[in-house]
Amino acid sequence: MKVLITGGAGFVGSFVCEQLHAQGHEVRVFDNLEPQVHASGQSNLQSLMRPGGDLRAGVELVWGDVRNRHQLEAAMRGVDAIIHLAAQVGVGQSMYEITRYVDHNTVGTAVLLELLAARQHTVRKVVVASSMSIYGEGAYDCVGCGEVYPMLRSLSQMRSGDWEPRCPRCSEPLIPKPTPETKPLLPTSIYAVTKRDQEEMCLSIGRAYDIPTAALRFFNIYGSRQALSNPYTGVAAIFSSRLLNRRSPVVFEDGGQTRDFVHVTDIVQAVLLALHKDEANFEVFNVGTGQPTSIGYVAELLGRKMQIDVPPQIENTFREGDIRHCYADIQKIRNMLGFEPTVRLDDGIDELIGWVSSQTADDRFELAASELKQRGLARC
Ligand SMILES: NC(=O)c1ccc[n+]([C@@H]2O[C@H](COP(=O)([O-])OP(=O)(O)OC[C@H]3O[C@@H](n4cnc5c(N)ncnc54)[C@H](O)[C@@H]3O)[C@@H](O)[C@H]2O)c1
Ligand SMILES: [Zn+2]
Repeated sequence: MKVLITGGAGFVGSFVCEQLHAQGHEVRVFDNLEPQVHASGQSNLQSLMRPGGDLRAGVELVWGDVRNRHQLEAAMRGVDAIIHLAAQVGVGQSMYEITRYVDHNTVGTAVLLELLAARQHTVRKVVVASSMSIYGEGAYDCVGCGEVYPMLRSLSQMRSGDWEPRCPRCSEPLIPKPTPETKPLLPTSIYAVTKRDQEEMCLSIGRAYDIPTAALRFFNIYGSRQALSNPYTGVAAIFSSRLLNRRSPVVFEDGGQTRDFVHVTDIVQAVLLALHKDEANFEVFNVGTGQPTSIGYVAELLGRKMQIDVPPQIENTFREGDIRHCYADIQKIRNMLGFEPTVRLDDGIDELIGWVSSQTADDRFELAASELKQRGLARC
């Protein structure tokens, strides 16, 4: 196959690219090398380069922006499948750079879909990256009411440091449970809204024009090559970048909030299954490990393993739109595609640290945090 990967020079894209190349497919990466992600102006495709700096045979890097119809149209020529990863990925930043997020993510996807709708193409499969952020709060059980889907916690609840969501029906405390794909979507940031747009738009056009399309709702991805100098990306990258600069990882709330940390290797596994298997067509799948891990634990684990003795700074402040718990129910992707997470958190964190230790990260976290505070998006 000849596969086009939009955003393929980024964190996830570079690993997908490597794996497709290893399987003997031809890969064309299409990426605008967003400066916030690629601070040095370099792609993440070093491992696919020959000593002289050229890419290996079978791998192409095309500079271009998904919002630019002509650039994208040229890049789509002759490809059998598209893996659509291009996106701006900062949740907090999306709450004030709204046009930028809607433009790159929603409009960029619209441009791609118009090219598919024009039917002058050879594409037989589309895989689009969606996100767990579209759920809002995860699913919970109430002892009295059964499965419930709470809305965001109120400002007054957060102000009083009462972090756990309560039952929307009887106000009793709740027990978090794995979130299935059927949970109603309640995106709580502009980033999340645009990820839902990308997913729904791709599935809608895919169905209408009979182009097999699969959407993958990635949970919290971590691993080497995640942009360390981008203060808007994943928490593991942000924490390790802080530690590398001998500063405390800053933990919001009390650190007891949980997420599903999935190693990039397992994300690649899911992307390839979705690409190759017809069972994935016109479906959405969670991609996670099915295990919740608290943010406080990740901060502490990184510090311990990196042997950097600066304890996490538990802020007891909170960010607008933040949820308390969300981890994946992975039954669907397990049963339909045969997905099985392979990387344990302990091993995945070792891999991350091995890479982080060879990097110099400039810590722009403070700047991003004060930006949120100034705008009233992070509060005490
Ligand atoms: N990392 C996570 O935890 C996570 C979780 C859920 C979903 N996702 C999704 O997975 C995908 C990949 O994320 P990532 O973590 O690799 O991020 P990343 O920032 O490393 O990669 C995204 C790539 O897209 C490129 N890009 C951005 N705007 C573009 C545009 N207009 N035209 C062309 N290229 C553009 C960037 O230069 C970058 O190389 C994204 O769609 C993201 O929303 C990521
Ligand atoms: Zn109840």
